[in-house]
Amino acid sequence: MDSRPIGVFDSGVGGLSAVRVLRALLPGEDILYFGDTANVPYGGKSGEELRSLASASSRLLAGKGAKALLVACGTVSSNCLEVVGRASGLPCCGVLRGAALRACNTTRNGRVGVLSTEATARSGAFEREIRALRPELAVFSFGTSRLVPLAEAGRTEYSDSLVREAVEDAAARFSGSGIDTLILGCTHFPLLAPALARAFEGVRLIDSGETGAGEFMGLLRARGLLSAKKRGGRVTAFVSGGIESFERSAGLFLPGGLDDIRAVDA
Ligand code: DGL
Repeated sequence: MDSRPIGVFDSGVGGLSAVRVLRALLPGEDILYFGDTANVPYGGKSGEELRSLASASSRLLAGKGAKALLVACGTVSSNCLEVVGRASGLPCCGVLRGAALRACNTTRNGRVGVLSTEATARSGAFEREIRALRPELAVFSFGTSRLVPLAEAGRTEYSDSLVREAVEDAAARFSGSGIDTLILGCTHFPLLAPALARAFEGVRLIDSGETGAGEFMGLLRARGLLSAKKRGGRVTAFVSGGIESFERSAGLFLPGGLDDIRAVDA
């Protein structure tokens, strides 16, 4: 048993899709969340930039006393997860394996899509995870930069024309693929799940924030790191950019909101 907080980070509000599941699974855990909003979006950055940002985020949360880290960012998970363990010295987990496993267990026709940021699509990391589990599956990938800014701005409704155009464009990229399962490989995307569900009608959506939270809980349990507290955990967020817009979006995506929010230098 370990009463220290867990650490979770992302480029912005996307990782809250994992936090909301962690709150439900482990209501006694204190959570330190870092949203690197001064540097969002990560999806268009180079490998070197991502390594440096991932290392800074990991050190920040380790310095604040986290006992383990959930990298609630598909882009960092697929490009440089190894940096996180090295920089923090802590047990850590990304969002790839849980989502790949769920997709492999969900698909009925063996055709799986991965919708992610461009940097994640370029890395090919989701495909490798899926093929390691089920080499016979057909995997189709597309990376988009259109959805993250919408989620950051709290614009998620299909009735919003910008959202509608972005999700329909994403769906059009998979037309003809015959996928029956789609991994939302960027943790911002589950925040737009109802709009994506309309555009990808009949396709099962896998929330990489949710499956990442489940995998992380398994890691905490296996290492004896769960807190003895069963309720009353607090969520403290640190942001490198503006506090107000982050707080507004967090209010939309996280039932109960944040207990505290503080600014930190990028
Ligand atoms: N939410 C992150 C991801 O899962 C980062 C998205 C971005 O900043 O472009 O990929």
